[in-house]
Amino acid sequence: MELQERLRMLSDAFGVAGFEDEVRDELRRLVEPLVDSVEIDALGNLICARGDGPTVMLDAHMDEVGFMVRWIEKDGFLRLSSLGGWDERLLMGQRLTLRTREGGDVHGVIGASPPHILSQEERRRPVGLEDLFADIGAASAEEAKEMGVRIGDPATIHYPFRPLQNDCVTGKALDDRAGCLVLVEALQALADVELPYRLVANFAVCEEVGLRGARVAAWTVAPKVALALEGTIGADVPGVPEAKQPVRQGRGPAITVADRSIIVKPRLVRFLEEIAEAEGIPYQYKLPLYGGTDAGAIHVERGGVLAGVIAVPCRYIHSPVSTLRLSDLEYTVRLTCAFLREAHRLL
Ligand code: CO
Repeated sequence: MELQERLRMLSDAFGVAGFEDEVRDELRRLVEPLVDSVEIDALGNLICARGDGPTVMLDAHMDEVGFMVRWIEKDGFLRLSSLGGWDERLLMGQRLTLRTREGGDVHGVIGASPPHILSQEERRRPVGLEDLFADIGAASAEEAKEMGVRIGDPATIHYPFRPLQNDCVTGKALDDRAGCLVLVEALQALADVELPYRLVANFAVCEEVGLRGARVAAWTVAPKVALALEGTIGADVPGVPEAKQPVRQGRGPAITVADRSIIVKPRLVRFLEEIAEAEGIPYQYKLPLYGGTDAGAIHVERGGVLAGVIAVPCRYIHSPVSTLRLSDLEYTVRLTCAFLREAHRLL
């Protein structure tokens, strides 16, 4: 399957934090032929291993930001809590897909009071999740329950994946299905290459709600070296000065120097720069100190882990319209492969 089609499949899969089953099934199918063992732990992390020796861990998170049904009103409207950090300015007027306990989908919209009845001042006020509700066409709480909706059900704003122009694509969950795909592609590319260490690929749950899956997986896996693969904050858009653009599209993978969860050891940053330069792979730095990643949880596990992050630049993450350039993703795959070929030097 073509790269773009794999990304489509992964981005369109339902995978709100804590409800990653569908994404995990897709990834398991892709990865199983490429590794010696596949295990799913109690939290739902998909831990895949090949080879023997000291351990190098790659990590990408499966979960995406989403919602949870917080309350069902008497007249059938749903109140939502957010799972992960949404940009709440974007929520009003979106379509919502809920996943019921039985596994079915219920469709709705995120509504608000009509502008016609609002005062000038009310119309100017930003509308947050507290003021919003989901309308699924139920006329009562009983009807909503008959549709299978319960408190605690997860939901997402589902924009189907689609190519834009040039090599740009858009989808709802490129953070971090882009990272998941980079990991799969790297495993595929090195399937027949002997590596002098044990390689563990962890597809993590619940990154968006506090790096929870990766923390547990890092304890289990006990890596010496780890690299988190991400889709990260592209901000090369109108109105943002260059000094405040964490990463930019079209400049290749972003190497993290430091974010809010980790200060990457200079030795590892230099190593990544070196291998990128040796392979002629363009790269950029992710400007400090924006965001946090699974590397933040991994590097403080056990006795401490030499951990870093490389990321595909993605604009509009934590919105349903994240975008990336496939060439950036391909370069990130190449850098990940180069890292794996040389990672024994770090052990
Ligand atoms: Co992410």
